[in-house]
Amino acid sequence: MTAEDRVAIITGGAGSIGSAIVRELAAAGYLVCVADLSAEACARVVAEVPGSFAFVGDLADPATVELLASTAAEKGVLTVLVNSVGISPKNNGNKFMFDDIDDAAWAQIFDVNFFGPVRVTRAVLRRMRDGDGASIINISSITARTGTGGPVGASFPPVLPSSSHYATTKAGIANLTRSLAREVAPRGIRVNAVAPGFIATAMTASTAGTDVIHGQIPWGRPGTPEDVAAVVAFLASPAAGYVTGTTIAVDGGMLS
Ligand SMILES: NC(=O)c1ccc[n+]([C@@H]2O[C@H](COP(=O)([O-])OP(=O)(O)OC[C@H]3O[C@@H](n4cnc5c(N)ncnc54)[C@H](O)[C@@H]3O)[C@@H](O)[C@H]2O)c1
Repeated sequence: MTAEDRVAIITGGAGSIGSAIVRELAAAGYLVCVADLSAEACARVVAEVPGSFAFVGDLADPATVELLASTAAEKGVLTVLVNSVGISPKNNGNKFMFDDIDDAAWAQIFDVNFFGPVRVTRAVLRRMRDGDGASIINISSITARTGTGGPVGASFPPVLPSSSHYATTKAGIANLTRSLAREVAPRGIRVNAVAPGFIATAMTASTAGTDVIHGQIPWGRPGTPEDVAAVVAFLASPAAGYVTGTTIAVDGGMLS
């Protein structure tokens, strides 16, 4: 580590998509901070990926978020933030219907999927250097545009296992991406999002009715965490130096 190391923070970095992003950005030369709730999973990722270090904590907690930003800033120049943290509660592999989602469940998912990224972004932006290629990449979801689909068993598309509270948090993230991109453009900081479709991960492993879901993917297969990570790495790179405020779908054509 040197004071001039370029640091990338990946929240949810020990998860399926997050850890693929950690591998991509470490390979691109960043010193990567794997920020996640799970100490065990963090330790596994850090052991596998040279050039990474762990920050274990609950990113729904504002004090923890401040500590993450200050800890990472001490390691080098904060250059990339990827907000990959997220939860998608399931009801026996299916979505929850709107009427079954109580206030506590709405509050919990907003704390993790929406206010988590909001707070981390605020803390990190205050420490990013202007005009030095810094960027923020949010992991949204195609449900930000499609919504979650009908009741379990409905035949009309999209048939997706995520619930309305989840999709609503992701729509918030997509809008935050556009709004923030305009605000921080004068600082030379870019803000973009990636919207994965159906990715084969721990989050989707217990999903019911995957045949129907796979049948909606023109490319003919679910995505992989690496499919998402490759686009994140592009957005973080100088090759995307004129790309800001946009969301790129990585969905095998589901939204087309
Ligand atoms: N898997 C998909 O098909 C899919 C599709 C669209 C969008 N996404 C989004 O991609 C992102 C990553 O999803 P994934 O499939 O890798 O899920 P995952 O469950 O494998 O990873 C999420 C990670 O977030 C961590 N986490 C959860 N709550 C936390 C908290 N309060 N504080 C700190 N860490 C916390 C978990 O420990 C986990 O490691 C999420 O934002 C998800 O909504 C996934």
